Amino acid sequence: MPSKLTYLRVDKFRHVKPGSVVRFGGQINAVVGRNGAGKTTLLGLASALIRNNFHEFARDEFEIGFRLEDGEFALEGTLSNKIGSNGGGAKVEFSGVFHHGEAAVHIESDANESTVTARGARVICGSIVPKIDAHATSFGLINDARLFLALVHDARLGLPTDVPNIDIAVDSLRYYGYALTRVSEGVETFRELFAQEANHHDRTPALGVTRLGHSETEWVSVGHHLAGDVLSQLKNTNQPITDSMTLDGTATPLARFIELTQYTDARLVLTKTSAATKEGIKRSVFAKPLVRLETANGNEIPHDHLSFGEKRLLAILIKLYACESTIIVDELANGMHHSWIERLLELMDELNTQAFLTSQNPLLLDCLPLARETFGTTHNLVICELAESGEIVWRNLSEAEADEFFKSLDVGLQHVSEIMRNKGLW
Ligand SMILES: Nc1ncnc2c1ncn2[C@@H]1O[C@H](COP(=O)(O)OP(=O)(O)OP(=O)(O)O)[C@@H](O)[C@H]1O
Ligand SMILES: [Mg+2]
Repeated sequence: MPSKLTYLRVDKFRHVKPGSVVRFGGQINAVVGRNGAGKTTLLGLASALIRNNFHEFARDEFEIGFRLEDGEFALEGTLSNKIGSNGGGAKVEFSGVFHHGEAAVHIESDANESTVTARGARVICGSIVPKIDAHATSFGLINDARLFLALVHDARLGLPTDVPNIDIAVDSLRYYGYALTRVSEGVETFRELFAQEANHHDRTPALGVTRLGHSETEWVSVGHHLAGDVLSQLKNTNQPITDSMTLDGTATPLARFIELTQYTDARLVLTKTSAATKEGIKRSVFAKPLVRLETANGNEIPHDHLSFGEKRLLAILIKLYACESTIIVDELANGMHHSWIERLLELMDELNTQAFLTSQNPLLLDCLPLARETFGTTHNLVICELAESGEIVWRNLSEAEADEFFKSLDVGLQHVSEIMRNKGLW
């Protein structure tokens, strides 16, 4: 699974004040601040680190410190990018430490190779620096590190021998790359998911399924935004490979959508857009997604007739179930009824999802499951501020601020958003 981002430090990046440090909780993180304080930008950086793709920042010089965690594995270090004098030629480098329990392995990596050092031994292996190409299906820094350390396992390094490289390799087939991009503040993500390009292939952002198999009945499928448990529905009904594929309203994202909206049923139809056989393996791509929703009086509504809020809800649910471990949503409360916001936060909590959410709307803050005991580790607040110098400052609440904040919250007379506003934190 993709790892959790727990720490971010900016030493050089756009107008962010050097030395700005942010810690993230393992579950819901709310990012607040006035317009132009860098909330969307911060989500972009979090997404880039988690999915290991810095396409959005290819033209920026930066130096950022971070820590990614995945169970007993952790990767911490610094990523830097230098731009050539002619404005092109991004040069990304990584320097850091990979931890697995007691074992610590130092890694220095550039675009060509990594130098791995532990207990005085040195090994040269593949690069793990983030991809710059928009469509690169790179997986995640920590997983790339785990994968190559497992592959080049060298006794001299004293590395753990139980790194589950098979799991990682299977995980990386799931196209997390795009699933972990941020959900936009409007309906752009919905439009991307439902794009109807004719020459659709299996690495584009749109909703779809790639089926691979030796015969009509034996196949595996990889969903672009449709997780394994959703696709198992197709397997159970044993649908033969025809020109289309249909998922019914029990498929998880559709079922949750029906639960929250006026619709009584839903169907997702995908059409075969390409088929090829290579080395005896048949590969078929199903795309051109079409969702039909049924209303209580039996009318059918196509997905493009959905309301603004319904489009956003469907896009968020698809992204959430495409990759339950992480979700990044800009302006979550935008166009959403409070019952939807509450339910989405509840689902994220149930799924143990690490969520990065921004909002200009007090509703999000008031729906957050904030408690003194879990503040900082499970749930956290990130403040984005504009300093008088024009610099952007990203930070968490100081200890004194957090203490004051919870004292006011304990009194129970004010909502989170009111307390934040009264204390000048938002
Ligand atoms: N490509 C870029 N290079 C340098 N600076 C940029 C770039 N794009 C945006 N900015 C600056 O970053 C600032 C922060 O933008 P961002 O979209 O992150 O703000 P925000 O907090 O999300 O605002 P809002 O609440 O209005 O959505 C902008 O005000 C702009 O000055
Ligand atoms: Mg924004």
